Amino acid sequence: MSKRKRILSGIQPSGTIHIGNYFGAVENWVRLMADYDCFFTIVDLHAITVTYDPALLPQRVWDAALDNMAAGLDPEKCTIFVQSHVPEHTELCWLLTCVTPLGELGRMTQFKEKSERERENVTTGLLNYPILMAADVLIYKADAVPVGEDQTQHLEFTREVARRFNGRFGDYFPEPAVLIGRGARVMGLDGMSKMSKSLDNFIGIGEEPEAIWEKLRPAKTDEARKRRSDPGNPDRCNIFSYHKLVTPEAGLREIVAGCTGATIGCIDCKKIFHRNLMKVLDPIRERRRSLAEHPDRVRDALAEGARKARLAARETLDGAKKLMGLL
Ligand code: AMP
Ligand code: TRP
Repeated sequence: MSKRKRILSGIQPSGTIHIGNYFGAVENWVRLMADYDCFFTIVDLHAITVTYDPALLPQRVWDAALDNMAAGLDPEKCTIFVQSHVPEHTELCWLLTCVTPLGELGRMTQFKEKSERERENVTTGLLNYPILMAADVLIYKADAVPVGEDQTQHLEFTREVARRFNGRFGDYFPEPAVLIGRGARVMGLDGMSKMSKSLDNFIGIGEEPEAIWEKLRPAKTDEARKRRSDPGNPDRCNIFSYHKLVTPEAGLREIVAGCTGATIGCIDCKKIFHRNLMKVLDPIRERRRSLAEHPDRVRDALAEGARKARLAARETLDGAKKLMGLL
């Protein structure tokens, strides 16, 4: 019997998922469901490593579940669950903490960025974040992890954790490969930084078409193109990088010709992008609406997901404990 390869990925419950998440990761997850044994988790335990409001967290986890299922994660074809519902992750995290040298954690880019933002509240949880992420992956002995480019450093760290564990206690954890999505690094509407929930420069996948248009209208384009009659340079335009995610080849060629020949203005170009983007987002928004009307479907999926995930996680955890000499 051929055993399907396994993947795991995670997403933070920090509000709506945006088109960076979608084209960087979630779209890829949906595609991979056909060929892999898939685990997807909403990482609420990672969300509490920075300052947060406990009153808002349940709704955020719920929204993340709705968004991901609406985006195409099908509980019949994958295991979708909330990280804290599978306590084995935190137990393995402790075991892995005991093979991780202190020095490496402080060098992680995400830690440096977030601790800069947090200042008053830099917790050990934030420092240990990558070990919990390594536990998320290794507890399913995942062969590969589909993510956006910003997570490659954490996954290199995950592989090192696996190597270190294997070197000390015997070959046990596979070193997972990284699978980067089509939109490896989708820029924000400001055109300056990565699209991110915390920077408020995003297009949410469930937003209404009019609201998305209001965000797109003032969004950055090629700054050298001041008047409509100026020829533009698509390679310097953030909106053109968005087009590549949703506009077919022939359409892209027309945009390039129209922009460089100054026959298509920036507003027209944004309108075309908006239309093409909505072809992707309209069905997602519709599915989200229908799921919101049937919360039992989401609740059942998460309960069943946690049950299946725990079975797999328990098995790996028991093996790791045994190798470490824990009775
Ligand atoms: P997060 O919301 O940080 O939990 O990210 C969930 C997934 O989306 C991860 O795989 C990220 O790498 C990916 N991701 C987040 N922001 C972007 C972006 N701007 N471009 C591409 N991928 C992203
Ligand atoms: N750190 C990831 C992010 O911010 C989320 C995450 C947690 C994750 N655990 C994971 C991603 C395991 C992949 C695998 O996007």
